[in-house]
Amino acid sequence: MFVNAERDAEPLADALGSMPAQVAELGLDVDDLVFYTRWETEVEANWKIVCENFLECYHCQVAHPQLAEMLDVSADAYALSTDGRLSSQRGPTREGGGTTMHLDGELPRSQFHFLWPNLGVNIFPGRPNISIGPMVPLTPDRTYRFLDYFFGSEVDQAWIDELMAFDDQVGKEDRVLVEGVHRGIASGGLEHGWLMGRSEQLIGHFQQLTREALGA
Ligand SMILES: [Fe+2]
Repeated sequence: MFVNAERDAEPLADALGSMPAQVAELGLDVDDLVFYTRWETEVEANWKIVCENFLECYHCQVAHPQLAEMLDVSADAYALSTDGRLSSQRGPTREGGGTTMHLDGELPRSQFHFLWPNLGVNIFPGRPNISIGPMVPLTPDRTYRFLDYFFGSEVDQAWIDELMAFDDQVGKEDRVLVEGVHRGIASGGLEHGWLMGRSEQLIGHFQQLTREALGA
């Protein structure tokens, strides 16, 4: 549920940009999805670091071995795009990929969407699935996350268990990364960093939107 108390708030459809169209194009029937569970966690890192981790998959090849077996995360194959406040990543499934998950199903590839400032949407290849939830700043060094998981009404429990275990592993790998990045930045040892124009273009987009919102 999206709520905006502003009297002249923009329509939700405008804020979502091309996300619904991309999801429909993938073949996911959102009207058939059934809520499964809510996953919650707190991460010891600033919310912007958590968001930026979500926005690039340059780290996937080394940090997420199982994910990199499932998806072609090379810069040439892994598609990044922006549309207003929306950032999208579309990863093709590898030939024979999915050593830990059965990827045969209605969805041929992944989609990971980020709606600025802090909403993440994940769709994995295989059976109909989506998880959606925000990254909420608690303090400058602590972030709360939740993800609501939905599956197609016909998806069997064994496949749901596979995906939940897979995503739990990816989440653990990302936690190590973002908490490490936060400790590094908090040390004060770095004045600033550099972004790789291609692989990290969505982080650049995120930072530009944040700068504009701050009036900087
Ligand atoms: Fe990651």
